[in-house]
Amino acid sequence: MEAKILESENAQLLSEVLEGLSKEQKQLPSKLFYDERGSQLFDDICELDEYYPTRTEIKIMSDNIEEIVSQIGEESLLVELGSGSSTKIRLLIEHLESLAAYVPVDISAEHLHKAADCLKSDYPQLNIFPLAADYTEDFSLPEIPKQYSSIDAFYPGSTIGNFTPEEAKTFLKRIANTCGKGSGLLIGVDLIKDKSILHAAYNDKKNVTAEFNLNMLKHINDLFDADFDRNKFKHHAFFNERHCRIEMHLISTENQIVHIEEHEFKFEKDETILTEYSYKYSLQSFAELVEGIYDVEKVWVDDNKLFSVQFLRAV
Ligand code: AVJ
Repeated sequence: MEAKILESENAQLLSEVLEGLSKEQKQLPSKLFYDERGSQLFDDICELDEYYPTRTEIKIMSDNIEEIVSQIGEESLLVELGSGSSTKIRLLIEHLESLAAYVPVDISAEHLHKAADCLKSDYPQLNIFPLAADYTEDFSLPEIPKQYSSIDAFYPGSTIGNFTPEEAKTFLKRIANTCGKGSGLLIGVDLIKDKSILHAAYNDKKNVTAEFNLNMLKHINDLFDADFDRNKFKHHAFFNERHCRIEMHLISTENQIVHIEEHEFKFEKDETILTEYSYKYSLQSFAELVEGIYDVEKVWVDDNKLFSVQFLRAV
């Protein structure tokens, strides 16, 4: 195997990987899903019949767009946390009559500038100030050479569900702090529902989600000197009712040893690696989560109550 030189960003990632695999319940960070193939697979997931969140969120937003833009108000500085959701941000941009500026925040500078260039060519009058930062860590908003009357963050996709409720609170406190008292947060929150619908959404018939999950092992092999054999792992996703979360795991199909750089990890047959949580909330449990951090000003849901879009205001 060819030696790979680790850049500092990857060295940090490697230590997260090693630490996760050293736990009693082995785990890997969900952000490792998203190499180029993983991002493509995620886009494919969003198109699946069984995966209701994306299309439901878009429908809720378009059905209620006038109310949503009136919550955001005029001359807003719109901060998008993660910048992968072009359909959704376009809906806002097209309906906000006077947007002061748009600040997409994304960890991948390449992704960020591609998305910004694309928007710039479709909306030449739009002020875009991209910020390459990990929004799950502390960050400051860039200097904006333009007057604005409010700051509104946009966090679609129910990405909040990847955090445990405790982590989600810490995260929301940080966003409220960064954007300030009185700032808005337009957020997508997936709802608790019939188990069979949830199960199907993460166990699709075409096995795209399984492929997405297993691709993480290839990504690790590509990043590091590692020898995961994806044929010796299986996708496993289920709804944990007690914790109201989907859990995605990779199950080792046999006893095996995996090498990562100079480290060795033993797997027993049927032992799992946790790759993702996707928490689901009720309107009530989400309101309790944000209490004291944000006021819930507005909640929009679809007719089947599958998903919610909420407008929160930092207290
Ligand atoms: C992007 C985190 C919202 O939890 O539903 C989709 C990721 N994982 N299918 C989700 C995902 C498996 C997705 N989020």
